[in-house]
Amino acid sequence: MATFDVEADRAKFPALKEDQVFLDNAGGSQTLGTVVEAISDYLIKSNVQFGGGYKASKASSSRYDSGMSAGAKFLNAEKDEIAFGPSATQLLRNLSLTFEFDEGDEIIVSSIDHEANISPWKELAARRNLVLKWWTPTTRSANPVLFASELKGLLSPKTRLVTCTHASNVLGTIHDVKAIADVVHTAVPDALLCVDGVAYAPHRPVDVKDLGVDFYVLSWYKVYGPHIAMLYGSRRAQKQMRTLGHFFNPDVTLENKISLGSGCYELVQSISAVVEYIGTPSSSSDDKTNLWPSIRDHESQLQTHLLTYLTSRPSLFTIFGSPSADSQMRLPTVSFVVSGHDSRELVETLERTTNYGLRWGAFYSNGLVHDFLGLGPSGVVRVSMAHYNTLDEIKGFVEALDRVVSKTS
Ligand SMILES: Cc1ncc(COP(=O)(O)O)c(C=O)c1O
Repeated sequence: MATFDVEADRAKFPALKEDQVFLDNAGGSQTLGTVVEAISDYLIKSNVQFGGGYKASKASSSRYDSGMSAGAKFLNAEKDEIAFGPSATQLLRNLSLTFEFDEGDEIIVSSIDHEANISPWKELAARRNLVLKWWTPTTRSANPVLFASELKGLLSPKTRLVTCTHASNVLGTIHDVKAIADVVHTAVPDALLCVDGVAYAPHRPVDVKDLGVDFYVLSWYKVYGPHIAMLYGSRRAQKQMRTLGHFFNPDVTLENKISLGSGCYELVQSISAVVEYIGTPSSSSDDKTNLWPSIRDHESQLQTHLLTYLTSRPSLFTIFGSPSADSQMRLPTVSFVVSGHDSRELVETLERTTNYGLRWGAFYSNGLVHDFLGLGPSGVVRVSMAHYNTLDEIKGFVEALDRVVSKTS
């Protein structure tokens, strides 16, 4: 594996030339220059309806098709198993409209997820008179984890669907999705597992076949691409979906079933540039185009620096999610509160006095932050790093944070 040259990598992201340190990457990552160029090039050369026989339309079809193939390869899926949409929230909502479960059927929903993977299921349960079972970690702590073993007691022959995140956008904790899928499908072979991978996908390769999930959603604007999202649905799982498309249109692919009207062609076709940059789950570890091992190792250094500082002052900082920097257990999305400081005021002070861009709040994981962790309206301080952050940036951030908290502690 080639050593990771962070400066050479940063040069690929035009926005990183700005005077701003981006520590809100779980909110949205910076966009690759090649993606910007691909979008602009498409709009200049082939911005027509695809499917026609004329030259520009053929170019449009071919570029769209390449974007679909790249998106599928990114997850080790087939092209007929993916669909693009405006956001993960919209795709999950559309997905929920395709299920026609029977009254009394059961669905199991993780209560510590982003709301995008909660409210569609709550409403599906109400609409079709289903039994909704909440999957909540049994131990109340600052480091809640969804264990496959705890799911066992909730499953029954009537279970039709289970939902959870691969990693929380607040906690950064990585769930063992493969073990969860195994427990679900062993107990109830036809039950479906729908995983929100929005927070996970920017940081690690995802092989949906290896994980054994039925549905998996991600948002490309957090994976160095544009504002568009993608859903995977296995062929097997698609058999349980009705189509949302017009009655005269085909209904054989996930895209047929769930993507309504014309897609955002210029954005879909630009996904090829993201996948060329980052690699796929099947790229080998010594492949130069496979960035995943470097991402994990570099991010591990960044999170180690921040977490070492936070854990060195336990009376001051409460970390949510794993306090360990082990990259098997967590992503570089680190949330915490500071004793004697309101999260909002602390972030606003840092924003006024430095060029670090970070956030406070619940990040639409309101059930987790307010109900489970019991935090007030200001929620947590969230520092969410990406592989293009430098160690110097994180060292500088730790110094800035230390100055603010030491003044008043
Ligand atoms: C874990 C998680 N799930 C879902 C979403 C929603 O994604 P989108 O903005 O594409 O709807 C987000 C956005 O922050 C997220 O972090």
